[in-house]
Amino acid sequence: MNVIIRPERPEDAAAIHDITRRAFAPMAYADGNEQDLIDRFRDAGALAISLVAERDGAVVGQASFTEAFAADGSPGWYALGPVAVEPGLQKQHIGSKLIEAGIAELRARDAAGCVLTGDPAYYRRFGFRPYPDLCPEGQPAAYYQILPLRVSAPDSVVCFHPLFQDPAE
Ligand SMILES: CC(C)(COP(=O)(O)OP(=O)(O)OC[C@H]1O[C@@H](n2cnc3c(N)ncnc32)[C@H](O)[C@@H]1OP(=O)(O)O)[C@@H](O)C(=O)NCCC(=O)NCCS
Repeated sequence: MNVIIRPERPEDAAAIHDITRRAFAPMAYADGNEQDLIDRFRDAGALAISLVAERDGAVVGQASFTEAFAADGSPGWYALGPVAVEPGLQKQHIGSKLIEAGIAELRARDAAGCVLTGDPAYYRRFGFRPYPDLCPEGQPAAYYQILPLRVSAPDSVVCFHPLFQDPAE
């Protein structure tokens, strides 16, 4: 399958919103607001990296990276998520391409590392490992994972961008 990975453009926002909504809709663990989260990041200038997968001129997937914050103040942390692929095109390595390209961009920025909450069975292939002892309060420890990049392991809890907190909650 011929898929290009590239940074998002302003005209991609509606397709990203739609794919994310439909990809997360059947997921029991989804909040149902993942598509709104991306819009909120973008509107606040907090979408540090947004990569889309394009196939035949159409957006078919997207990965968001935002800045994350180490409790000890060490710089260069990022969080991955949401990531979504067009439901009919999943399990064809589009998600992997998006995540690998995002990690390559983090390395190019000399990032300390990347955190996420997600299924370890999926994310371990990219080098993410669970760090339950460093899980921020309120996050599910079994799903909290870290990919150390510039550093070998974090020295403190790394928290997600405050915009992850839904203002309606
Ligand atoms: C999760 C998601 C982004 C993965 O994208 P994708 O393009 O379907 O995944 P890939 O094809 O790159 O997956 C690579 C491998 O992981 C496997 N895989 C995919 N999802 C998996 C999961 N949840 N758990 C374990 N393995 C998984 C694939 O079967 C594939 O295996 P293979 O290498 O043996 O062929 C996509 O399935 C999706 O949009 N899901 C709905 C939204 C969602 O749950 N997002 C993530 C929230 S944490």
